[in-house]
Amino acid sequence: MMRDMSETPPMTAIADETAYAEAVQLAVDASAAYYGDGTSTLDDDAYDRLVRGIEAYEAGHPDQVLPTSPTGKVAGGAVVGDVPHTVPMLSLDNVFGPDQLAAWAASLERRLDRPVTAWSVEAKLDGLAVSARYRRGRLVQLVTRGDGQAGEDVSHSIGTIVGLPERLAEPVTVELRGEVMMTTAQFADACAKRQAHDGTTFANPRSAAAGTLRTKDRPYVCELTFFGYGALPLPPGDDSPLAVRLRELPHSQIMEWVAGQGVQTTAVTPVAGVLVSDLAAVQARVEEIAAARADLEFGIDGIVVKCDLAADQAAAGFSSRAPRWAVAYKLPATEKITKLLAVEWNTGRTGIIAPRAVLEPVELDGSVVTYATLHNAADIARRGLMIGDSVTVYKAGDVIPRVEAPVVHLRTGDETPIDIPQVCPSCGDAIDAGQERWRCVRGRACRAIASIEYAVGRDQLDIEGLAVNRIKQMLDADLITDFADLFFLTRDQLLALDRMGETSTDNLLAALERAKAQPLSRVFCALGVRGTGRSMSRRIAAHFGTMDAIRAADAAAIQQVEGIGPEKAPVVVAELAELDPLIDKLIKAGVNMTQPGVVRPPAGDSDGAEAAGEPLDLPLSGMSVVVTGTMTGPLAALSRNEVNELVERAGGKASSGVSAKTSLVVAGDKAGSKRTKAETLGVRVATPEEFAELVAAFL
Ligand code: IVH
Repeated sequence: MMRDMSETPPMTAIADETAYAEAVQLAVDASAAYYGDGTSTLDDDAYDRLVRGIEAYEAGHPDQVLPTSPTGKVAGGAVVGDVPHTVPMLSLDNVFGPDQLAAWAASLERRLDRPVTAWSVEAKLDGLAVSARYRRGRLVQLVTRGDGQAGEDVSHSIGTIVGLPERLAEPVTVELRGEVMMTTAQFADACAKRQAHDGTTFANPRSAAAGTLRTKDRPYVCELTFFGYGALPLPPGDDSPLAVRLRELPHSQIMEWVAGQGVQTTAVTPVAGVLVSDLAAVQARVEEIAAARADLEFGIDGIVVKCDLAADQAAAGFSSRAPRWAVAYKLPATEKITKLLAVEWNTGRTGIIAPRAVLEPVELDGSVVTYATLHNAADIARRGLMIGDSVTVYKAGDVIPRVEAPVVHLRTGDETPIDIPQVCPSCGDAIDAGQERWRCVRGRACRAIASIEYAVGRDQLDIEGLAVNRIKQMLDADLITDFADLFFLTRDQLLALDRMGETSTDNLLAALERAKAQPLSRVFCALGVRGTGRSMSRRIAAHFGTMDAIRAADAAAIQQVEGIGPEKAPVVVAELAELDPLIDKLIKAGVNMTQPGVVRPPAGDSDGAEAAGEPLDLPLSGMSVVVTGTMTGPLAALSRNEVNELVERAGGKASSGVSAKTSLVVAGDKAGSKRTKAETLGVRVATPEEFAELVAAFL
């Protein structure tokens, strides 16, 4: 739709006080980023639209105008509040890699004229800084950072923030500083509540936390989370014993004291602060925190490196903007705003009909993202997504990119509803919409070609001579309906097929015979149970040892397998029940249903359960091995899955990410970042040739 140029300029529609607070935060963040490092995600047009929307809302609600509002201020205004801080809430200088970190540390040590005694390395939490004032152990006031000199009083939020108790363990007077944020679960809950209330959602956890913290009198309550990262004497000049301790203790010990008062710190998370004494160890912890980022329940945007000792901090001092004793090691953005161009619907191998977002390409965490997951139709409705929306897209590490939410403030009015399919996009049959995940009523049979092609693939049953055309031909001739039927094909049936000579027939029959002896991990993988790819199938097979044991397992037992959580376990159980006839057919065909090398407990020995899945005493027993780069020498012909199988046959655990817990990295040609990380962490690195020698007996 063309816009009428005589209209008033387009502006963001702001429905209520929550949307207003969020819009103000978005504008403040955008202008801070723009005037800071020039990285704002809002283009000029979007920013102007947003500010016009804010102005319009303020004109109608003068009583709700926030002091931080960018309206009428030069450059969006420095953020201001009316509660002066006892001690300024400063910013942090940034570094963007090991070299810059080393240069920063060197210049600090030159200033101190001695090495820094100890470094505290901790996560940089991606939320809003707040100061929490406690008097005689009671939380009396909560203030945002504002412009660093004065902030906004948000004490109305007290009682809704997990980790920030209304009473401390001791009746002390102290000021705590930390970050208010929303965990993934809190964000989902907040979006659902807001959706039910006014049909919109929050753009991302950070702006949801900002809007929530600052809005009063919302008709629904959204929970927030606090992580403390500092404590100060209150008032600053106080000379009580506690105040003296807070001035003299190392930062790490102050944080232990804070946690002891019942306040949440990152000590309870996988990215706890650690104390180290040299820069190599700082960098190693930085890498560990960065690697843990994708699996965290909350957002981090970097790592903060601080001098631990009060004496070092005092000697380093402050610039007008930031302390000289700390620095933020920034990590690449994991979330950006881009346009939702279209939604594609596809039926997967298991018959699940899933939507996929087509995006205006955007660079995120080192790769260009064009497609992102949208879970299902209900999810699209819940988020109120529309084609043409600006959307926040999240991607970190190896996770599949996902669309987080529409940025409703950036709507122009040209957005259009998303078409929801009425029939299966693959076969045109009906959709079973009885559950959140829609399915073609034909189930796996809908995509029989795709599921059989997958089952016979190189990393599953590895049956050569079965190209897609051949599978289609067999399906069309009603010779097979699933891959188990392949094992019952007779020589005559095969010879009767077009373009199937004697040699091809005999080769195929021989390949089928060989496939019957594949290990359970591959047979299980061939089933195509949702959420169980190659490595998960290997883990399941290693854990249970036999198909009988897998089939007998309930959700609790399945959850014992590493990487299977409470969400996935019941899906696996349900899918296996659905696959019963197929598995029975495979057993009847004589397909192997055991995992070689896995020791099973003697029958009837219920205490022996722990023995299940334990490998024998093998060269890689107890070792976690990461394979990376192109394999050479004796391993050159193996697929990545086959090398991982080799690791497991030799008693090791094949992993994909390098951490301090990794025992060995097999680095082939062009190994890249995993090799570098192994070297930084001091993890043993072997060439494919060296590794092949180590596991020669299992090749
Ligand atoms: S210490 C004098 N530690 O980062 C400032 N800050 O970019 C000392 N932040 O405003 C702050 N996690 O809101 C510190 N572990 C952490 C942090 C952290 C997040 C925030 C904080 C600060 C901003 C500066």
